[in-house]
Amino acid sequence: MPEKPDMDNDIRNIRIFDTTLRDGEQSPGATMTTEEKLQLARQLARLGVDIIEAGFAIASDGDFNAIRLIGGEVEGPVICSLARAKEGDVKRAYEAIKDAPRHRIHTFHSSSDIHLKYQYRIGRDEALKRSVEMVELARSLVEDVEFSPMDATRTEIGYLSEMVEAVIGAGASTVNIPDTVGYTTPEEFGAMIRELRKRVSNIDDAVISVHCHNDLGLAVANSLAAVYNGAGQVECTINGIGERAGNCSMEEVAMALRTRRDFFRADTNIVSEEITRSSRLVTKITGMEVQPNKAIVGANAFSHEAGIHQDGLLKEKTTYEIISPESVGLHHGTKLVLGKHSGRHAFKSRLVELGHDLADDDIEVAFKRFKDLADQKKDIFDEDIETIVSTELMKTQEVFSLDGLTVNAGTDKAPRATVRIRVTETDEVIEREMGGDGPVDAIYRAIAEITGTKSKLQKFDIKGITGGTDALGEVTVTLEEDDRVVRGHGAHTDILVAAAMAYITAINKLAAKQAG
Ligand code: KIV
Ligand code: ZN
Repeated sequence: MPEKPDMDNDIRNIRIFDTTLRDGEQSPGATMTTEEKLQLARQLARLGVDIIEAGFAIASDGDFNAIRLIGGEVEGPVICSLARAKEGDVKRAYEAIKDAPRHRIHTFHSSSDIHLKYQYRIGRDEALKRSVEMVELARSLVEDVEFSPMDATRTEIGYLSEMVEAVIGAGASTVNIPDTVGYTTPEEFGAMIRELRKRVSNIDDAVISVHCHNDLGLAVANSLAAVYNGAGQVECTINGIGERAGNCSMEEVAMALRTRRDFFRADTNIVSEEITRSSRLVTKITGMEVQPNKAIVGANAFSHEAGIHQDGLLKEKTTYEIISPESVGLHHGTKLVLGKHSGRHAFKSRLVELGHDLADDDIEVAFKRFKDLADQKKDIFDEDIETIVSTELMKTQEVFSLDGLTVNAGTDKAPRATVRIRVTETDEVIEREMGGDGPVDAIYRAIAEITGTKSKLQKFDIKGITGGTDALGEVTVTLEEDDRVVRGHGAHTDILVAAAMAYITAINKLAAKQAG
């Protein structure tokens, strides 16, 4: 066990730097549209993250525009753009973030000999010079500059310390120590942070940050070891998504610090009750499901199977529960909220309580959907409302909309589907009847025929939102066309209607991307 760091007895506030929109988006297949990024950034603000890394401005116009939009719309967190240690990158990052009320440039250069020799083909002196120059440039543009020596955990400690000292001298107010390839271990990483605190003479002029990847499943443990040894910022993503095996998971690190405040003498500004909603939103947007046994946000994270545990829980919750489900915003669908007779006012109040401050037009759309649902389903739960908001309001401009659907299928029949679709631009309604291997196949063939889509269906997922046979079923489809990947969601008590809606929403997104 490492020695307790020499810090005062007060609880330290650890900054949460969320990189779901940047490193998280680098997960294979996790690309997000600009509207999805904005929606997620708003949720990150509600969750209480301190810094949002909204993208990598030079990487694409899409990234640049999303960063600018988030900077203009999302209040609270510092909005940050990544930039390589190159003049063009740093200037582009500045252009993207400059109008955000609180902004940061995060620039990086590799520091390990492996990277410098094989990837950059330069020596240590040159890497140090470029890093310092680019921190100076960033600092001439903004007050808040972060620097990362990439692959720090495979960098010789003497050189790493020299680089960290030089960039702090050049004006970096945060120095981030990345475990880029997920190679380090908790004791080793903790010792590295201690060593940097000892060797770097100006270390107190900057916040030490850590950025751990999860290749050996140690990202959270390594980040916690760093905090224990003096790091003041953790870089992480919701659900731990990110390159390869992902990044440090935000919900795990935040709940570990909160639950073991006594041990770490540290905590974060995270509003833990927003965790479940944030996790579900990321799943919905990226299509990346969370494993059932994942800590904090997995479907089984709060289920107790063993009889002896259930017995203990009935007597006293704390016998087997170290975190309450409610503290992470999980209500197990038990929160009956509204029914058929609830009015617009009650619906609107519930939306606000759930953190959705919608424009009047959007409330109208959602309310209409809620009334339709209340006709089909007796009890409406928070989860249903969340689904309505995310499926109805995340729709892009509707090029096509579902006007009607009839399906004929069963054990003794070859499936056939008749689909009617309205084309918004002309208001024309087109109908096709098709057969298929199953009812969904028949529906999708008819939709493809009407819309003329050339996209390929990559993934088709179904899930029930709440329990019971009248539950809302939600379908997510992932489509690919010309190397572009989009996801569409549809929710309905009839799963075939949900399937049709999801497919049409995804086709609309492709059409919107083409137009944009
Ligand atoms: O993993 C990494 O090293 C990074 C840097 C850009 C911080 O993502
Ligand atoms: Zn990374």
